[in-house]
Amino acid sequence: MSNKIESHLVEDRVFKPSKEFSAKARISSLSQYKKLWQESVDKPNVFWAREAKELSWRQTWTKVLDWKAPDAKWFVGGKLNVCENCVDRHAAGPRRNKAAIIFEGEPGDKRVITYGQLQREVSQFANVLLAKGVKAKDRVLVYMPMIPEAAVAMLACARIGAVHSVVFGGFSSDSIVDRLEDSGATHVVTADGGWRRGKIVPLKDNVDEALERYKGIKSVVVFKRTGQDIQMKSGRDTWWHDDISKVSAKHEAKAFDSEHPLFILYTSGSTGKPKGILHTSGGYLTGAYTTCKYVFDMRDEDVYWCTADVGWITGHSYIVYGPLAMGVTQVMYEGAPNQPDFGRFWQMVEEYGVTIFYTAPTAIRAFIKAGDHFPAKHDLSSLRLLGSVGEPINPEAWMWYHEKIGGGRCPIVDTWWQTETGAIMITPLPGCTPLKPGTATLPFFGVDAAILDEEGHECKPNEGGRLVIRKPWPSMTRTIYGDKGRYKKTYWSDYKGMYTAGDGARRDKQGNFWIVGRLDDVLNVSGHRLGTAEVESALVGHPAVAESAVVGRPDDLKGQAVVAFVTLKEGIEGTPALQKELREHVGKVIGAIAKPDDLHFAPALPKTRSGKIMRRLLKELVATGNVTGNTTTLEDFNVIATLQKNLGSG
Ligand code: PRX
Repeated sequence: MSNKIESHLVEDRVFKPSKEFSAKARISSLSQYKKLWQESVDKPNVFWAREAKELSWRQTWTKVLDWKAPDAKWFVGGKLNVCENCVDRHAAGPRRNKAAIIFEGEPGDKRVITYGQLQREVSQFANVLLAKGVKAKDRVLVYMPMIPEAAVAMLACARIGAVHSVVFGGFSSDSIVDRLEDSGATHVVTADGGWRRGKIVPLKDNVDEALERYKGIKSVVVFKRTGQDIQMKSGRDTWWHDDISKVSAKHEAKAFDSEHPLFILYTSGSTGKPKGILHTSGGYLTGAYTTCKYVFDMRDEDVYWCTADVGWITGHSYIVYGPLAMGVTQVMYEGAPNQPDFGRFWQMVEEYGVTIFYTAPTAIRAFIKAGDHFPAKHDLSSLRLLGSVGEPINPEAWMWYHEKIGGGRCPIVDTWWQTETGAIMITPLPGCTPLKPGTATLPFFGVDAAILDEEGHECKPNEGGRLVIRKPWPSMTRTIYGDKGRYKKTYWSDYKGMYTAGDGARRDKQGNFWIVGRLDDVLNVSGHRLGTAEVESALVGHPAVAESAVVGRPDDLKGQAVVAFVTLKEGIEGTPALQKELREHVGKVIGAIAKPDDLHFAPALPKTRSGKIMRRLLKELVATGNVTGNTTTLEDFNVIATLQKNLGSG
């Protein structure tokens, strides 16, 4: 908490929305935005009631907000079915035969699912879950590739009031075990495998391995995607296609309370144990829906594509719940952006006439590196709006995205938010906000964001501080599953009654928010959060390792690369083979994204006199090759000198 946050970036380029875009936009001038924003924070009851009314409620709320920090209840007494809002209400009207999902698998297989079909598939799968004995509030772990059935499984859970916990397909069996244990899940939905970079991700094998250790699972439903041989345990495992053939395609959706739990999604924190972020129904859906409407300006005629995976919050809010609640047509893609080459996305944009495209800075940087000739080969003129999420976008990456993908005409919405916030919080509105490359600009409706110093005073323009949200918002997380204490301590204890995001930021004179990055020991690797403590625990779990310290190093492609310093147990030699083994070990314990990019053996780690590892010094060392920061609390300066020498910079 003691380091001053500095940011030296100065950006003067300003891009105003075009007259054509503004003319059609829902919010077309800054003054209209300001007026509505003021209402939304002064009278949240009025603003949010108006938005929520656009959804379909079985019973209207009696009170919009019940707030006693940090406990929020939104749309108290209201009842709805989230799945009905995303599927049935469209299937019952003129959108019945409209494409909900245009799917492309990595090998090139294609499928279009209409809202009418989606209703039948979701109803069928809801009946399957019910037949397996799944009840409201039961936790269902979903470990799927990026295929429409992932969304079907999630929506089917929502339909029957079960709580899904989606685990990203890139995570390992150990990560599955952690999440099963923490959530107390009783059922699993998975696939035999998924396609990624031409290879099969062995999803079912990973589940089998996890279930050797976690015994609480009653059923595993397996979707056949890749077709390789897998084990099916009789009495526990069944095939999706067999199960659905036995049930009706009709299911009457029941209404659930607005605060009924919808899902748990795990995210990294500054300790080793991932946090189970809990989201509930009415408020979450209202947040996802409202942001799709205003931020992405979604219209019935749009073809929207978000390239995230459903295993992350972006996939939950901006592939499944938000766009489907809006009734839009969206593209879903299973695989890697460079399969067979870096033209894949642009070929798909051209083929489907994508109008709104939402991706991450790390992907943009990879495209820049691959070369302009990939997008140049394709007609991208259908695009009208671009989005970015996951980490600060470098101004040069912004410019490239604007020019090479957006043809200089598409606004870019740089959206800041988090797993915990459920929906976009700081963002331009494409019809009215002047854009500057690198800033997420202004708070969304209902978001009272501010930057405070350590004493709780608001920072002056351009002064760095901590990003907080001073008022509750509908899609905010309600708790860390099973750990209210950690929820209060992590988010609500720095400043009374305010949510601390854990990010450092500054505001410029126009009020734009510039996000600097995490203030805690959380890395942002390719737009994904990774706790340094998690990687350290994984390393220390290896029999050769005595101690480890993990820090981030700036990386052109990933944003941050993972750098591990490892002290070995007495008598063990740090060989290249062991280095490789340790990297693989982390991949096995957490998942490939956590594998250290650099792994250094260190005779000792820099510590304070009280024995705390000084990651700050290591961070500086790997970023600059030097240590100039304050070392007065360092127990033994020789440790740093040795590391510096070993890294070849001393
Ligand atoms: O540090 C911020 C960064 O990502 C963190 C949230 O990570 P996660 O919960 O995994 O959600 C990512 C997708 C919503 C934030 O604390 N972050 C996210 N979006 C931006 C960002 N940093 C700067 N600009 C953004 N647009």
